[in-house]
Amino acid sequence: MAVSYKDLGFVNTIEMFKKAMAEKYAVPAYNFNNMEQLQAIVSACLETQSPVILQISSGARKYADQTLLRYMGQGAVEMMKRMAGEKGLKEIPMALHLDHGDTFELCKSCIEHGFSSVMIDGSHLPMDKNMELTRQVVDYAHKYDVTVEGELGVLAGIEDDVKAEQHTYTKPEEVEAFLKATGVDSLAIAIGTSHGAFKFKPGQEQSIRLDILAEIEKRIPGFSIVLHGSSSVPQDLVKIINENGGKLKDAVGISEVDLRKAAASAVCKINIDSDGRLAMTAAIRKTLNDKPAEFDPRKYLGPARDALKELYMRKNREVLGSANRV
Ligand code: G3H
Ligand code: 13P
Ligand code: ZN
Repeated sequence: MAVSYKDLGFVNTIEMFKKAMAEKYAVPAYNFNNMEQLQAIVSACLETQSPVILQISSGARKYADQTLLRYMGQGAVEMMKRMAGEKGLKEIPMALHLDHGDTFELCKSCIEHGFSSVMIDGSHLPMDKNMELTRQVVDYAHKYDVTVEGELGVLAGIEDDVKAEQHTYTKPEEVEAFLKATGVDSLAIAIGTSHGAFKFKPGQEQSIRLDILAEIEKRIPGFSIVLHGSSSVPQDLVKIINENGGKLKDAVGISEVDLRKAAASAVCKINIDSDGRLAMTAAIRKTLNDKPAEFDPRKYLGPARDALKELYMRKNREVLGSANRV
């Protein structure tokens, strides 16, 4: 049975992005697959008074079940409202977003399950096919006031099932035509960020192409830009993982200084998932190493949840600038 995001208490991204653009910060888009991640994201964003976009990938949907996720989303909004009342905080705007949707059918199904925003990622297709697919999703989604993110340019690394060995940076001269043909509400661009924890080779400069971002912004002033692949791969977390039995060699991410600059520009949404995975894995490895007799999942998932919350509070305050914006 179809449900509208409006009945679940979510909002689409229109007002979120308008405010982020005017006040020069970016809204965090954090992925979740399970209860602990969802709890950490919601409490981190409530306590820092930050708007938030909860992201679900198609992999997450398969892992956690589409029906269960719809109720987890609804539960997250209700939990946020109750906690806001208890702590005397303002309620925060929350969007439920499909991350890297690859077909019209998946986007439609998510809209029917209460998502307030969807990404249709046709970035691996030729430009005309990307535009055609994106337009189809926009036409359907806008009937229900659901916002749509498109993507132009290809990130290196792994995008769900789509693998790109090399970046194809977004071509600024193609952006206006893409927006005109598709009617998307926001655009993900490729400027050197990439998915996962191994974003640069050893010795390679860790900077992103802020010059391409500036050129795009000049061509479409005021339009909301999205950055995927924006984990910074904190080295203290990599160290904890490796000291406790892990094997993450040469894991590096995006400079937080560059991300702060991007957040102060037309970038209104920044996607972070890998850093959260690292924070949880570090806490779990350390707990199990320190207390080898422990076997109650709450005893290692609890610290993992706390570590994730702490990381995302810091991201909101120090990197995205989204704290105290509600
Ligand atoms: O961009 C990819 C996100 O980190 C989601 O990853 O497809 O493994 O759930 P996933
Ligand atoms: P990271 O792998 O850098 O966290 O990127 C996440 C992302 O882009 C989700 O869409
Ligand atoms: Zn992504």
